Amino acid sequence: MDDASQNGADNQLPFNLAKFFSYISLVLILISSVILTLFIGRTMNASVLESQQEYALLLADNINRQIFRKFTLPVAYASGRVALSNPAQYKLLDEVIQSQLHGLQLESVRLFDDHYTILYSTNPKEVRRTDMYTAGIPLVFEGKPHHFDVLSSIPYTQAFLTPSLEDGTFLLRTVFPLTVDADFQEVRLHGQPVPVLGVLEIVQDMTPQYRGTIRSQRLIIGGFLVSTLILFFLLHFVARKAEYTLSSRMARNRQLEAQLHQAEKLASMGRMVASIAHEIRNPLGIIRSSSEFLIRRHKTEDATTQAMLSAIYDESCRLGTTVNDFLDYARPRQPRQDTVNLQDILNKALAFLGGEFQRRGVEIHADISPDLTVPGDADLLYRAFYNILANAQQAMDGPGQIFIESALPADGRITLTFRDTGPGFAEDVLNKAMDPFFTTKDNGTGLGLPIVQAIIDSHGGSMKLANAQQGGALITISFPTGKPLTEQGNAHE
Ligand SMILES: Nc1ncnc2c1ncn2[C@@H]1O[C@H](COP(=O)(O)OP(=O)(O)OP(=O)(O)O)[C@@H](O)[C@H]1O
Ligand SMILES: [Mg+2]
Repeated sequence: MDDASQNGADNQLPFNLAKFFSYISLVLILISSVILTLFIGRTMNASVLESQQEYALLLADNINRQIFRKFTLPVAYASGRVALSNPAQYKLLDEVIQSQLHGLQLESVRLFDDHYTILYSTNPKEVRRTDMYTAGIPLVFEGKPHHFDVLSSIPYTQAFLTPSLEDGTFLLRTVFPLTVDADFQEVRLHGQPVPVLGVLEIVQDMTPQYRGTIRSQRLIIGGFLVSTLILFFLLHFVARKAEYTLSSRMARNRQLEAQLHQAEKLASMGRMVASIAHEIRNPLGIIRSSSEFLIRRHKTEDATTQAMLSAIYDESCRLGTTVNDFLDYARPRQPRQDTVNLQDILNKALAFLGGEFQRRGVEIHADISPDLTVPGDADLLYRAFYNILANAQQAMDGPGQIFIESALPADGRITLTFRDTGPGFAEDVLNKAMDPFFTTKDNGTGLGLPIVQAIIDSHGGSMKLANAQQGGALITISFPTGKPLTEQGNAHE
């Protein structure tokens, strides 16, 4: 793993941990909400059961009274003996019981004797069956006040998952002693143990009540699930966004690091070049002045000697310029802060290049306000304008025109534009032209524009390279005036 990716992985680590913990907490929320819902469900079911049991006891007690008053007593008085095998008696009992059940949702009502045989049932086919008694019946005969059983045809979890529960899925069976009426007990039994005459079994359907609790549980779980999912996606979205921001910031940092590295390399190369150039400059000066001296002294010599001496002189001049360029770029000097007139400096550069322009048929159209002054260094600005004009002339490589204009836009900066009628900057050259040592010329150093930029920068100005709409290169330079806007002369707009 290289340094950058190691770094990236290190930066990601706390972020991944945060993501991990947030996901874990979401899962915990979900699990705890399910547990909570189950607990709420159990409590709800317990209270449903309790109220159903209370209701069943009231009902059983009432049926017991009614049987005693409207059936047992009248029959005992009338025929001396209660025998449900007698159809008339059975019919009477059925009427008494049915009158109590009217409108109630009961699955069945049964009466058992002490041999656990069914004496009466709302389902007549069950009468006299001996195999239908349940564990509660003997207990009640032995004195237990009542006994409850919950009967469910499917487990509760399955019921929870079943879309619509059928009636009769959850039943409550209540077993209750069939005794003498309480009022009668006081009057006749005088505190003797109450005889259990039989056992009453009521089976009621609790499914509608369970449906209600299951619906509430589903709503709670659904609500938790939806809110947890929303939370999860929100978190996921935020995490993704933060991850993206982090990685793009890291990419930018890496890019800046690479640029810094490159700049450091260039700076150290510049220092090396500058020290070499510095060592070359002095002996070069001696070569140049000696060759100049020899040219003057040997004017009478033959043409070959003259040509060789001239070549030595020209080449040493050219080498001197190159060395100076290197030095200017590698060790830019601090500009002076004189008040300089831009038109004067431009005129000086144009005058110097005038002969060459004339020879090549280059026309100059300069429209510059005479009063534009900036705080700056006339020598450096001269070098900058010279380089731009020289580039324009080299680009046109023959007859052409150079337009120089000045403006004082609303922001109060002075703008100078140089436009030529050459081919303009090639597309791949435009963003490299200001790189040091970038040149498309055989004899170029590629330091012209970087030097111009360094000079303009040191004056607090800025430079922009572009191609003009009409074709040709368009170089825009802007300077801060260092003065309030109103003090500037009648600059051209
Ligand atoms: N006016 C222009 N029109 C078209 N291309 C230009 C113009 N000025 C500069 N360039 C392009 O930008 C490149 C860089 O210019 P720069 O002045 O930095 O170096 P150079 O002119 O090649 O070398 P040197 O200035 O040392 O002679 C040039 O080689 C050229 O391709
Ligand atoms: Mg140049």
